[in-house]
Amino acid sequence: RLLIIDFGSQVTQLIARRLRELHVYCEIHPFNAVTPEFIRAFAPKAVILSGGPASVFAEGAPLPPREVFDLGVPVLGICYGQQAMMHMLGGKVESGHGTAEFGRAYVTPGDEKLDLLQGWFLDGREEVWMSHGDHVSRLAPGFQVYGTSPNAPFAITADPSRHFYAVQFHPEVHHTPNGRTIYHNFLKLAGFKGDWTMAGYREEATRKIREQVGNSKVICGLSGGVDSSVAAVLIHEAIGDQLTCVFVDHGLLRKGEAEQVVSMFRDHYNIPLIHADESERFLTALEGLDDPEAKRKTIGRLFIDVFQEHAREVGGAEFLAQGTLYPDVIESVSFSGGPSVTIKSHHNVGGLPEKMGLKLVEPLRELFKDEVRDLGRELGLPESFIRRHPFPGPGLAIRCPGAITREKLAILREADAVYIDQIRRHGLYDEIWQAFAAILPMRTVGVMGDGRTYDYALALRAVTSVDGMTADYYPFTHEFLSETATRIINEVRGVNRVFYDCTSKPPGTIELE
Ligand code: XMP
Repeated sequence: RLLIIDFGSQVTQLIARRLRELHVYCEIHPFNAVTPEFIRAFAPKAVILSGGPASVFAEGAPLPPREVFDLGVPVLGICYGQQAMMHMLGGKVESGHGTAEFGRAYVTPGDEKLDLLQGWFLDGREEVWMSHGDHVSRLAPGFQVYGTSPNAPFAITADPSRHFYAVQFHPEVHHTPNGRTIYHNFLKLAGFKGDWTMAGYREEATRKIREQVGNSKVICGLSGGVDSSVAAVLIHEAIGDQLTCVFVDHGLLRKGEAEQVVSMFRDHYNIPLIHADESERFLTALEGLDDPEAKRKTIGRLFIDVFQEHAREVGGAEFLAQGTLYPDVIESVSFSGGPSVTIKSHHNVGGLPEKMGLKLVEPLRELFKDEVRDLGRELGLPESFIRRHPFPGPGLAIRCPGAITREKLAILREADAVYIDQIRRHGLYDEIWQAFAAILPMRTVGVMGDGRTYDYALALRAVTSVDGMTADYYPFTHEFLSETATRIINEVRGVNRVFYDCTSKPPGTIELE
């Protein structure tokens, strides 16, 4: 395996992505966690030093332990990683003063060939993405230049005899179109075969779960989403009925959702499952609440209470399983810090472990979302389940702006089902990150047949997104929109008007509350 030492670059995760795409297993660890003992235990076959916002000559500048260079394995330094390497190996780094470079640049080859650059410079130069203030001004002994750009005379440097490589640009970003080749070559030089697969992950993960849990009991909060489901199935594979899942039905699920989840776990996988139907309790607590944060907090608090009560039935569980993913995990090495504004209080089972004195089992900590989907396939979860759009913990509550009523929830469930059916029929489901209907806190006048109607208005939302952080509204055709509006109004009693939400994120958010 390969070790990526993180110095806080915004794009460190992308390095891991590129390596995974090349079927090599790697882990990212923040520089301050990488001690000499850690390195010895990890025994990496190669090391990558990430970029980062610091200056090597600033006081207390983050540096890797010197042992990294004594391992006898290939090391690749990227941007700040290059500077750290030069600084530690006897070169010199200087501050910007007119040589800072941000954005696109072109690198041209040096005089000699380098194995790392096989397949590069085919057109005489390569487009790369730069983002640096400081730069290397004198090479460390043993290093040579293999590529330069107008503002980075040391764009690519290396000491091939020791397999030390250092680049000033970021090969992991898409703006370095041929960056993947560099990683490919580096991995080859380090002797990786590129045979890491999800089957391998599955095996390794089940072994680790057994090791961690021993004979103890584990409980897992199922939300019906992909992450917690995959985690549960994987853990069940590892420890069988030492695992019990708790599925809290808060009465804010979509049409047929609870039945689907329960049947999949009980009938298909035979996993012990407590189906806690607590809808009355949640809906009663939510009565009259119309402030979004108040709704979210009420749901979050009740969820913890309910979960805790049912977890007692399991008796003596020591561990709580969660479907935490990689992007949530990486302790980002933030140098700027500062308080950020809470836009929404996200609901998850946070707070539970401390309250209940539970330890965490998080077998997906090393995976990205699409890798979780692959693992789900590997574990035999149905494709339709794996591709499901994300669904928020507070469920339909945040798709029902204003006060929630049972009547509104019933209308919303039906309308949402018709809308999603439309999207599926038109073959658009997989193109869309997330689509749903929301019921608006207003009634409007309409005419149906010869009669007047005074019913609810509905908003339809559909967005494309990579990670949910930003999103664009989906450009449905007019035909699709009118067909869908007609179907909803004809098929769902209580709705007489349909709007389509054309707001992107930002300035909107994906959910309405
Ligand atoms: P927003 O509305 O913040 O949503 O643009 C971004 C993504 O997060 C989902 N979401 C949640 N997921 N608990 C969750 O598990 C929550 O409280 C929550 N609120 C929003 C939302 O559906 C979208 O995918």
